[in-house]
Amino acid sequence: MEEKFVIHGGKPLQGEVSVGGAKNAAVAILPATLLAADVFTIENVPHIDDVIILLNILKRLGAKVQFIDRTTVTIDTREVKNGDVRLNLAKRLRASYYFVGSLIGRFKDVGVYLPGGCDIGSRPIDLHLKGLRAIGAEVDTDFGVFHAKAEQLVGQEVYFDQVSVGATINVMLAAALAEGTTTLINAAKEPHVVDVANFLNQMGARIRGVGTDTIRIRGVKELHGCNYSIIPDQIEAGTLMIAAAATKGDVLIKNIVPTHMDALTAKMIEMGVEIEEFDDAIRVKYVKPLKAVNIKTYPYPGFPTDLQQPATVLLSTAEGASVIVENIFEARFKHIEEIRRMGAQVTVDDRIAVVQGVKRLTGAQVKASDLRAGAALIIAGLMADGTTEIVNIKYVDRGYDHIENKLISIGADIARIPVEEDEPIDIELDFQ
Ligand code: EPZ
Repeated sequence: MEEKFVIHGGKPLQGEVSVGGAKNAAVAILPATLLAADVFTIENVPHIDDVIILLNILKRLGAKVQFIDRTTVTIDTREVKNGDVRLNLAKRLRASYYFVGSLIGRFKDVGVYLPGGCDIGSRPIDLHLKGLRAIGAEVDTDFGVFHAKAEQLVGQEVYFDQVSVGATINVMLAAALAEGTTTLINAAKEPHVVDVANFLNQMGARIRGVGTDTIRIRGVKELHGCNYSIIPDQIEAGTLMIAAAATKGDVLIKNIVPTHMDALTAKMIEMGVEIEEFDDAIRVKYVKPLKAVNIKTYPYPGFPTDLQQPATVLLSTAEGASVIVENIFEARFKHIEEIRRMGAQVTVDDRIAVVQGVKRLTGAQVKASDLRAGAALIIAGLMADGTTEIVNIKYVDRGYDHIENKLISIGADIARIPVEEDEPIDIELDFQ
């Protein structure tokens, strides 16, 4: 059943809210359990649609999966017998390509339907193919299947033409069981990349240098199960920080790693937001009208592309003009069409958006085009005068665990309701 969010805006968010486990770590760590035939207990797993789909794929492969509580999962991979992931479920999310890196070392011949995921650009997988080929896999993408074959993977030096979170993680997964040492050069340094490497090391892998642009993986013969707790979600934390400032609120965002937020924190301070950092929390307090700033998205530790869309909305009522350059994805401005309907004044030219601050946004009926665009529209609805309705919120549920509940707990007036059928069109009208 299709649902929508209905938001009555203009209420400052106030109070305390906790952040869940990192989606972009979880969607790699869950497939990575297939690198071993053993049992795992994983905590702080975000209860989001992408995770539910991945757990269903694990079950279809023969793993035993059980939720101990809403965010703790046990996984037993001892009965998994093959690497055939040509399941329709796999087409629904981008991260399904991690099954290739996770299965190739043990099953020698694996196939996954080519990934789906948010429509924010072409999103090729050439760097995944280059890295897997470098360590000895024969890979192809014929018939819509990401297929890899390798009798024995052999460690190699892999240079990534551009920084890629997915390719760094996927090749790291495969290299963990390769013979010899693999060196990833120009590797991604995102917190979730570090978290996946830490998980693999808990499984007995020997990965060093993660968090820098050169990662060294010394292959081992076998890996084993482990217990692990996923890091807090940097992007959910950033989304809540932006929502606090956008609604002129005062919110303590808990259970985060403040240093992961540095690029956003610095920008928000530049805008005039008051930020106070604690060991595992950040307090965001609106104290005066925000000033326009310029943002360019870059790989970590640069400003995260996943927060570009929420930040654009925050700047829509700042004083002055902000220039936003989206360096990572070529089609990540789809939310702008929608916030224009709410009064935002934004011009877009290729990868550059210029946001001219306006006095206020006004509520409207809008639709989410992808996960973070949906988050951006929720923030727009919270800050706008009047009522906003957002449809296509299934995108939001892929990456946030019932975000409306967290927002309600800090004062938002937001409800998730079924989408009513369109008024029936009376086609019986006869034409005189
Ligand atoms: C991951 O996507 C995240 N998704 C994205 O988050 C995030 O925006 C992105 O990293 C950048 O941080 C997951 O982790 C599941 P990339 P990924 O490979 O791995 C190009 C969200 O909202 N590229 O780092 O697909 C690519 O086109 C999602 O949570 C190639 O050219 O991103 C892009 O321009 C959206 N060839 C750039 O690199 C390749 O083989 C960065 O992509 C791979 C990527």
